[in-house]
Parts: sequence; structure tokens; C-alpha cells
Amino acid sequence: MSDYVDIVKQAINDLYGDQVKDLTVELMRPDPKFGDYSTNIAMRLKGILRQSPHVIAEEIKAKLDERGVFSAVDIAGPGFINLTVSAKALSNQLEAGFHGDLPYGENNDGQGKTVVLDFPSNNTAKPLSVGHLRPANQGWAARNLMRATGWKTISDNHLGDYGTPFGIWVEGFRRFSNREKLNERGVYELGDIYVKARALMKEEEERGETEFADKAQDWLLRLDKGDPEAKAYSQRFNEISIKHTNEVLARLGIKTDYALGESFYVKDAVKAVHKLVDDGIAEQNDDGSIIVRLDDYGIKTPILILKSNGAPLYATTDLGTLIYRRDHFHADRVIYVVAEEQKFYFIQLFAMAKKIGFQMELIHMWFGLIDQINEDGTRSKMSSRKGVVLLEDLLDEAEKRARENAKSKDISDDDIRKIAVGAVKFADFANDRYTGMLFDWNTMFSLTGYSGPYIQYAAVRVNKILRDNAEHLDDEIDAAYDYEAEKSVILKLLDYPETVRAAANDLQPHTIARYVYELAKEMNRYYEKTPVATSEVPAGVRAARLGMLKRVSYVFEHALCIMGIEIPERM
Ligand code: ARG
Repeated sequence: MSDYVDIVKQAINDLYGDQVKDLTVELMRPDPKFGDYSTNIAMRLKGILRQSPHVIAEEIKAKLDERGVFSAVDIAGPGFINLTVSAKALSNQLEAGFHGDLPYGENNDGQGKTVVLDFPSNNTAKPLSVGHLRPANQGWAARNLMRATGWKTISDNHLGDYGTPFGIWVEGFRRFSNREKLNERGVYELGDIYVKARALMKEEEERGETEFADKAQDWLLRLDKGDPEAKAYSQRFNEISIKHTNEVLARLGIKTDYALGESFYVKDAVKAVHKLVDDGIAEQNDDGSIIVRLDDYGIKTPILILKSNGAPLYATTDLGTLIYRRDHFHADRVIYVVAEEQKFYFIQLFAMAKKIGFQMELIHMWFGLIDQINEDGTRSKMSSRKGVVLLEDLLDEAEKRARENAKSKDISDDDIRKIAVGAVKFADFANDRYTGMLFDWNTMFSLTGYSGPYIQYAAVRVNKILRDNAEHLDDEIDAAYDYEAEKSVILKLLDYPETVRAAANDLQPHTIARYVYELAKEMNRYYEKTPVATSEVPAGVRAARLGMLKRVSYVFEHALCIMGIEIPERM
């Protein structure tokens, strides 16, 4: 498509020269009965050229006709220009795209600059829950989009392994648990300890007591001072949590390059805070706490970067993290994949970064919460009767359902896993990330609707045709073949590079999800009308059609890979 944009731009430049220098040309895809591409450029030129759009459109049409690239240039309505390209020319265009320097669909917008992606950044105090699904999926897809657009990516799981939870764990462990239980139940034991301790602290608080909380705080201070017992606890708990985190992420096919937790930054972060005070950027309050005022950035609430008792907090370690990512990763951009509840926090953090003089581009890639459909049809925040839904349980359930759906056929466990994960992930991308994710087991596995399995099935079908006809894949293509039957599929494939670019620019993996869905539908329409490899199809035409299917297979694979969805062998 971008080549056609260039051709239209060239025509306009030839006609109007400097007057239109900075004008961007966009091509839309109109209703196919009007043409293949369309532009409203004549209307937009009206103001600049002080001419009627119709006259301008006529001039552009004449220029384009001269160029002879389009088989038809039509003017419609108040000055739309509709462009038609022959199917053959489109297929040549597609082939040229596939023989470019980069893999088809990819570009070099990022020019090798470095982006750090912060996800899923779970707190180690609890097992992964359904709440970690979105940061994991969206973060992974964002990483893939950045890679496809020429960025060097560094993914870093900013583990929440510091602060009060640690103290709560140690104190809770000593009261409610023991070594055997911990060894046996691992992270689930830690999760239970945490929940019990929280409940106890709440009771204490209601009675106006702080015994447990004080003890927990004490453990944290001991850890800060390097006390060996506290350190041993911290190591053991972290080991358990990280192992669990990696195992669950692996089921989702996700792996981050680093998992530098908050605790990693504490020491340097506290130093950095004091330096900010020395530099006059931060201020110490009378109670000893340290803040950075953000009024100059239109934010009334200052950001607190050290507590009155000298203890670091979330923002402290984030300051340390910013410094580390600048100095060690040389990040040009940092993307924080974190739910919408932390919007204001990131507004504050980014303003502080600006005030300090950080040059990196900082983005909060936020997303909405997860809702579920209840048995009575109502919608509510996702939970199980016990409380949170654990991510492992959710994936087990997804596999169970994938297996049930597949009942009679012989499908490998690995394929079942791919279908289960694909269904869950696709639901995450089904709407734009700002919209909450709706968790509905039924639509998630629908083979006819807007779902992961529906798209995987379309990809499996293409791959099967290619496999079954492997011996014809290199047959000679009929040079005279016109590709008319493939035209709308080819147009769709030609949209792919711009789709990737748009998804990357907006950090919206959803755009890719929409695209593959439309491609899948397009393919189903295609098979209905067009035999690919039956005996009635002449060999040269069959070769052309199989060649086009190879392109389709590539695009499915590439697009699904961006979303972190694998294609099963069979389903
Ligand atoms: N652990 C935090 C939470 O669960 C998210 C951390 C996000 N990353 C960051 N650099 N603040 O709320």
C-alpha cells in the first residue's frame, strides 16, 4: 500500500510543488465496488490551493492516468479519488514486498534504538493470578511489536519483591507455617501466609494494635541492614516465587530477559534520593519524609520518594530503576505495562523524571480490568468463590475445555496447550486494551466467532493444504494467470505492513487481532469460491494459488506470533 501512497504523493508534488510539501497522503480501503484504494486528498487540498476539490481531483486523475499504474482512477462524491489496481499488479506488489530487505510486515521505524519493556512485574508475595494475565500478554505482544518495527528490546520483569510484603511473610511464616509446609506447597503456602497475616493485621488495626505490623516492619529493617537471618528468608522466598513465576509464564510462552526486582535497586535508589535533595530537586519535610514537587508539571500532589522513617517505597525503587535503565540498558524508551489503576502514579513518576532531566521516552501502556460473565448472565469483576482466580487454575481449566471441544479427534497435548493458550490470549486482545477484558469461556472457544481457535483453525487449514500439496509447491506458475480470484486476499495481505506499523505506534496488539480475524474470514470466503488444488485446476494456476497460500500462511504465523499465539499442527 505504501508504494501507492508514494505514487499519489508524487503526482501531487509534480502538480503543486512546494505548496504541498508537508502534506501526508493516506489511502483508505473503500467498499470494493468503488475501487481498491481511495483518498480524500483533493478535499484536503481545497484550502491550500483555493480551488474546488472536483477540479483538483480532475488534475490528480489526469496525472495518475498518465503514470498508468492504476487500471482506473474515478472521482466520486465531492472529490474522493478511487483507485483500482489490477489483481496481477497487486500480486506483483506483494511479491516485491516479500523480497524486500526485511521480513514481510516488518519495518525499521525504531532504527535499532533500545526499548525496555516492564512486564508482568508481579508481586512475589502471592501466586500469579488472573490479574497478571493482561500485563503478561499485552507486554509480550508489545515486545514483539517493537521488535517487528526495528527496536532492540529488553524485557524486564520488575518483580515486587521489596517492602512490607517481605516483613509480613517472615512474621507470618514464623507464626502460621513451617519449613516442611513451605517446601511442599511453595508459593501457595506463601500466598496463604500472606492472606492470613493480612487478615490478622486488619483485626489488630480494628483493636488499635500494631504488634504484627511492627514485627513485620522490623524484619524489613533487618533486611535493609543486611541481617543474615532476614537475608536467608528473603533468598528462600524469592527463589520460590521466581521459580513459580517462570513456570507459569512458560505455560504462556512468555520469558523476560531480566527479572530485576525492586529490592535490586533499593541501595542506589536511596542514595539517588539524597542526591536529589542536595541538587535542590527534592525537598525534605519537617517529619523527615522526602518529596518532589510537581506543580510545574500541572500536578498538585507531590510524589513521595522516602518515608519519614527513612524507609524506601514504590516510587523510590522506580527512581532507581529509571537510573539503571538509562545507565545500563541505554534505554531510549521505557514501556510500563501496568493496569489503569496506576495511571496517576505514572503521571507523577514521569513528571518527576522530566524534572530530573531524564531524556528517555516513558510510556504507561495501561489496560482495563478483567470482567467475567456469571452463570446468571451478569457481568462482574473476575473472581472465584475462594477469592482470586489463580492463573495456573485458569490455564488448567482452559486446557480441559480445549480437550473437551476436541474430544473425538486425536490431538497432541502440545496442540491442546496451544489451543487453550491461544483462546485465552485472543480474548485479551479481542478489544482495545483500554476496554476491560471480558472473560467468557463460551465465546473464547467458539469455532465460528471472533476467537483464538477460529483463527488458529484458519491457519491450520492453510498449512494443511500446503502440506498436502508439498510436491506442487515449486511447480511453474502460469505466467498469464491474472489472480482475479485472489484479489481480495492479496489486498488484505498488502494491508499487513501498515497494520503492524499502526499497532506498534499505538501499542495496540488488538489491531493485529482484528486483522487476523478479517484475514481468516477472507480466506473462508476464498475457499468457498475457489478450488485450489483439485483436479479441475490446471497445474500452472494451482502453482499460483499455492504460492499465494504460502504468503497467507506466513502472515498468519507472523501476526499470531506477535500476539504470542502458536499454531497447532492439527485441531
Ligand atoms: N508490582 C507492581 C504491582 O503489582 C507493578 C510494577 C510495575 N512496574 C514499575 N516499574 N512500577 O502493582
